[in-house]
Amino acid sequence: MQDIDWKNLPFGYFKTDYNVRCYYRNGKWGKLEISSSELITMHMAATALHYGQEAFEGLKAFRGKDGKIRLFRWEENAKRLQRSADGIMMAPVPVELFKEAVFEAIKLNAKYVPPHGLGAALYIRPLLIGTGAEVGVKPADEYLFMVFVGPVGPYFKEGFKPVEMQLVSDYHRAAPYGTGSIKVGGNYAASLKALHRGKEEGFASVIFLNPANENYIDEAGPANFFGIKGKTYVTPDSHSILPSITNMSLRQLAADIGLTVEKRPVAVEELETFDEVGACGTAAVISPIKRIVDRRTGKSYEYCKEGVAGPISTELYHMLREIQEGEREDVYGWNTIVE
Ligand code: PLP
Ligand code: COI
Repeated sequence: MQDIDWKNLPFGYFKTDYNVRCYYRNGKWGKLEISSSELITMHMAATALHYGQEAFEGLKAFRGKDGKIRLFRWEENAKRLQRSADGIMMAPVPVELFKEAVFEAIKLNAKYVPPHGLGAALYIRPLLIGTGAEVGVKPADEYLFMVFVGPVGPYFKEGFKPVEMQLVSDYHRAAPYGTGSIKVGGNYAASLKALHRGKEEGFASVIFLNPANENYIDEAGPANFFGIKGKTYVTPDSHSILPSITNMSLRQLAADIGLTVEKRPVAVEELETFDEVGACGTAAVISPIKRIVDRRTGKSYEYCKEGVAGPISTELYHMLREIQEGEREDVYGWNTIVE
């Protein structure tokens, strides 16, 4: 195994030793297979390639001081993958199969779980695709579920340092009653141009507005949005955003430290009134935001006056990281020990 610079890992693809695969054929799931190939072979008419029958998940495992590997809230990802499958008419992956595949992929690649305390984690990427051949627009009758893993560092290279984001309305990542609330590849394809332009214009990410009403905030690229106002944690409620497991966890932790939690539409004008704002997700953890520029008007909203994240975002970030890394009591049973 090559020497890994655990402290400077990017968020990206990392080749490990094994992945796991399971095929759905003739109306049932087969046996889990272990592979050391990074390649898959599929029919050129597979529905994943033509009609976007593809859904994925992202979760993380952490090594504790005790050397144990902890996996965060995997059942939530299993359930979300089932909702995604249902949303685009794919065969759902049974929760038990999801568990077996994810745990097996982690155990087989245990040496790639970063050491404790270096700010890195093992990222787990389950993936479900339609492999059956069709040319008419209809769901496939065969599917492939696979899981690969790799060590990662922070999604935004700044880590927990505040970043700048751009509000956009000339691109939408999802339609009002489209697929925004499930984790399917098409949403990410639709976000690429806006994200690319935002990066070229100097921003870590873009913030998409609600496609049905362009004056409400939806989400921050591949992460949910939250704002802190006094003693209140506010996060958008919308049909077109992905229900984030990190955000769900932060809402609980926010309530635990005495904040009021509000999940409701958040108008752009409200940005003026927040003390702190941030993006949250598995990959991003919490990414504090220091400045948001509305691309339509050029108006900018400033936070983090001292150049550092606000106190509540900081506290929530540490609470979450400490639970994930086994340093704080896991009162809600969010972690499962893998080995
Ligand atoms: N929103 C989008 C569009 C995402 O891709 C993700 C990442 O999974 C999130 C939000 C955050 O969700 P979670 O906290 O479950 O990772
Ligand atoms: C995650 O946070 O797990 C994501 O999936 C974000 C992105 C890499 C798509």
